[in-house]
Amino acid sequence: MPKTLIIKNKIKKFNKQIQVSGDKSLSIRWVLLASQAIGKSKGYNLLMSEDVLAAIDSIKKLGIKVRMQKNYCEIVGNGINGFKYNKNLTIDAKNSGTLGRLILGLLIKSPKKIKIIGDKSLSKRDFSRVTTPLGKFGVKFSYKIKNKLPLTIFGTQSAKGIKYLENRGSAQCKSSIMLAALNASGTTTIKAKKSRNHTELLFKFLKIPIKVRKTKKFDFIDIKKPKKINAFNYQIPGDISSSAFFMVLTTLADNSKLLIKNVNINPSRVGVITILKKMGAQVTLKNQKNYRGEKISDILIKSSKKLKAINCPAELNSSAIDEFLVIFLIAAKAKGVSYFKDLAELNQKESPRLIWGSKILNMMGIKTDLTKDTIKIYGQPNLEIKKPIVIKNYLRDHRVFMMSAVAALTLGGKWKIHDKDSINTSFPSFLKIIKDINHSSL
Ligand code: S3P
Repeated sequence: MPKTLIIKNKIKKFNKQIQVSGDKSLSIRWVLLASQAIGKSKGYNLLMSEDVLAAIDSIKKLGIKVRMQKNYCEIVGNGINGFKYNKNLTIDAKNSGTLGRLILGLLIKSPKKIKIIGDKSLSKRDFSRVTTPLGKFGVKFSYKIKNKLPLTIFGTQSAKGIKYLENRGSAQCKSSIMLAALNASGTTTIKAKKSRNHTELLFKFLKIPIKVRKTKKFDFIDIKKPKKINAFNYQIPGDISSSAFFMVLTTLADNSKLLIKNVNINPSRVGVITILKKMGAQVTLKNQKNYRGEKISDILIKSSKKLKAINCPAELNSSAIDEFLVIFLIAAKAKGVSYFKDLAELNQKESPRLIWGSKILNMMGIKTDLTKDTIKIYGQPNLEIKKPIVIKNYLRDHRVFMMSAVAALTLGGKWKIHDKDSINTSFPSFLKIIKDINHSSL
């Protein structure tokens, strides 16, 4: 299969219904928590992507039985910290920051040292956000380069609950501490800047002693060590981050309409919907339900001709953090100058996404003003790309690839987008769904 995607034509108008694959954050959390439960848990609609498979491989290496059945995944846990493994174990988190950071939380009591490695992109990312709080539990780390992978974790047998201020709005950091609290005596208290709260909801559902007090900017989370976690079945809803590419595709396409079925619309994840609506996109939620504390809905999107610029409130950043690249495409077609601020975290992702977003817009002929944590985008409502564009050397960031494909299918130009395999980390069926919508071969 060629590794480069070539797009020369815009997508034809469509009226379709689709389903995106299971939510990545929930899939990884289900795998990790099922590994701590006693007995057999079943996960349905689990995302079968490289990040989730890396999570499955990691718990297998830690001695947990996993069986892939036809339409579900079965994990047989041995209880909290019930890992069994030989010395000199290496765990490969591959491209996944969520896996690399969360699994460290589960390993604070490991009696033997464990090495964590990752791919080129993950090895460039910051791990101090988890090694600092986990260090407070008494865990030690060694590195080649401080706070970067590869690193080795040396567990402690006497972890006591900690108090920690999580000030970045990182759900990965918060969740890593929450998982560590499963092995710490007493109470762990986190004052966490708002971020996705899937771990909190799963803890509540699993009857792990947790209290959450919410204020406007912060959540105060208290966790006590549970006696045990019972096995649990879970049906993973569709991923809003994957849906976002199709929301933008439809908004920018001509005269089209798309219904995305069964998407997780947890309020801590729906920043993209709020921002798109503020910019004039037509997005409606239908058929809303609750599932184990999570909200699920169908999302209906219609094309929009009149898009307007936004001065994006920074409070929405965390709830849209994985969606900014496609949101920038809407800003490129909007009337006026859009402004996004306080976005330094965007450069801490699989690639420096604030920089890459700006670079791709510039290639498209859109003017931007970029700083280390802000971007101004000068929209062109009549934008029609005519030239060839090549996207390469972007650290194989799956979302850079998918943003580029959406731009190519809606804004014109002749695009050559390298590293098609990058989508396998989060959304392997992305191109197949586009093909189905477009009745074409890609
Ligand atoms: C995630 C949290 C976010 C997000 C990532 C998934 C999670 O990262 O960007 O794709 O599942 O907790 P941060 O916690 O670093 O913001």
